[in-house]
Amino acid sequence: MFYSDDVIEEVRMRNDIVDVISGYVKLQRKGSSYFGLCPFHNEKSPSFSVSPSKQMYYCFGCGAGGNIFTFIQEYENYTFPEAVKMLADRAGVALPEQEESAENRKKRDLRTAVLEVHKTAAKYYYYLLHTEQGAHAMKYLKDRGLSDETIRKFGLGYAGQYSDSLSRYLKKQGISDALLKESGLVQLSEKSGMYDKFWNRVMFPIMDINNKVIGFGGRVMGDAKPKYLNSPETIIFDKSRNLYGLNVARTSRKKNFLVCEGYMDVISMHQAGFTNAVASLGTALTSQHASILRRYTQEVILTYDSDEAGVRAALRAIPILKEAGISTKVLHMEPYKDPDEFIKALGTDAFQQRIDQAENSFMFEISILQRSYDMKDPEGKTRFFQETARKIADFEQEIERENYIEAVAEKYQISFEGLRKMVMSHLLKGVPVRTQTAARSRTELSREKDTGILKSQRLMLTWLAEYPQLYPQISAYVTPEDFSDELYRSVAQMLYEQLAQGAPNPAKITSQFDDPEQQRKIAQIFNTEVRVETPEEMKKAIRESMRKIVENGIEQRSAALDPGDMAGLQAIIAAKRKLSEIGKLHISF
Ligand code: GTP
Ligand code: MN
Repeated sequence: MFYSDDVIEEVRMRNDIVDVISGYVKLQRKGSSYFGLCPFHNEKSPSFSVSPSKQMYYCFGCGAGGNIFTFIQEYENYTFPEAVKMLADRAGVALPEQEESAENRKKRDLRTAVLEVHKTAAKYYYYLLHTEQGAHAMKYLKDRGLSDETIRKFGLGYAGQYSDSLSRYLKKQGISDALLKESGLVQLSEKSGMYDKFWNRVMFPIMDINNKVIGFGGRVMGDAKPKYLNSPETIIFDKSRNLYGLNVARTSRKKNFLVCEGYMDVISMHQAGFTNAVASLGTALTSQHASILRRYTQEVILTYDSDEAGVRAALRAIPILKEAGISTKVLHMEPYKDPDEFIKALGTDAFQQRIDQAENSFMFEISILQRSYDMKDPEGKTRFFQETARKIADFEQEIERENYIEAVAEKYQISFEGLRKMVMSHLLKGVPVRTQTAARSRTELSREKDTGILKSQRLMLTWLAEYPQLYPQISAYVTPEDFSDELYRSVAQMLYEQLAQGAPNPAKITSQFDDPEQQRKIAQIFNTEVRVETPEEMKKAIRESMRKIVENGIEQRSAALDPGDMAGLQAIIAAKRKLSEIGKLHISF
């Protein structure tokens, strides 16, 4: 769904941010802002601020921030359109119906119909589980330790003892053959006509994040093969994009996610209170799974089976998660096979302990690597550490490398300095020493300068939003083009336009971006602080920041200047002249 800026702005204005956030966080007024305990990280003293004038929130502790749409996206784990919809409902704003192409409409109608079939099927399976016919399935689930509540929560069912129970039931509901086929729940063959995909199995409905059934897994109750059958891919079901249990886990508000292999593992963990568990559906974890997970968490604990296949799955998943920006730990299940068996044998507390002791994924990779070397042989041992050093050298930051050198040295009882030298020699391999250090110090220098200049730019935008009366004085010297970061530049452009026409509206600028990460950065831009004691110091800080920004702008433009560009050259000369005036500028509030 795509809403116009006007609609979005109306929804935003009709939902006062203090009002909405008060529904989630206890807020207290302090000066011109409200403060409370940040819902996005653990803290004891409030650093989470909500500004009624900016209509934005910002946490000085963890950097979470944005406008009301950001808050709802982050707190409720909604997408931007979902947040708009929820806030529109809350304020009684009618959202316009969307224009859509005939083809899209057809596709959407088909999806709706297939979803409806799944809902009907799930209800039917659930019903059968509770009949005489399903008694042995119910007994199977009970014998596996599942409570009535768990069975209800996960909507578990039974597929019926005949191979056409569901087909006949659905046909009786007036569902067409074409739709039955589209759903993947019914198959057609020349020989046997219409028959069910699943029969005589316990059924695990797979739900999307909106709790809509999009597919099923079905398990035999004995040792027959295949143990599990899964729905085929359909218009509503894509295995590489859905995780079993995510509909519940996404609201668990725990700091990490537990990723496991199977349906029963998810269910056991949830029943034991680990409601942050999800599973990829009988397939290896994909990069799509990883980027979905990244929407909800920064840390994953892999709780894969302890067998060879589980270890291989973990080694494959770690780089995929890393690529998506997720840090990963590995839980040790030994001596049990999977979370279901572990919890049944040792209970909740022991499992929590294993979670707390989960191993850093790099250390896990190294420990698996070690298995392929003969550590009793000096040569094998040396090769193992050489390989380890090569891997440590891949970390970009020096501090990261140092930390891993320390951890490996401690765990494998070797000398820190010795390992460090090995890592260094890998780092320097192929790169002449002098150029490398020179290059490094250059990038380090410019990075340092970057953060300084970016802070000045953020400060400037915060001041402009808080003291609009400064606008004429500042805009005479600082232009939006002087802002060096692309996002900062767009924000400056929009803010300048707003100030030229009247009042600043940082929350409206925020809604121009639908990525919560960008919204967070914008909240940071509008919540930058500098310690000043007196109005004089404040004015000095403003002049100083103006000077830095303009100077940096001139540098950027000079570097990019085409030698024949006379107009550009003159603009730079004019800017330089103005630059010298800034020091003497009299700022008034
Ligand atoms: P239980 O034996 O019921 O405890 O299941 P489990 O989750 O421990 O099973 P296992 O570790 O063997 O498999 C993990 C996941 O892989 C299952 O939840 C299924 O999603 C999938 N899977 C297992 N066996 C099969 C199979 O025979 N066919 C298919 N398509 N998927 C399977
Ligand atoms: Mn199992």
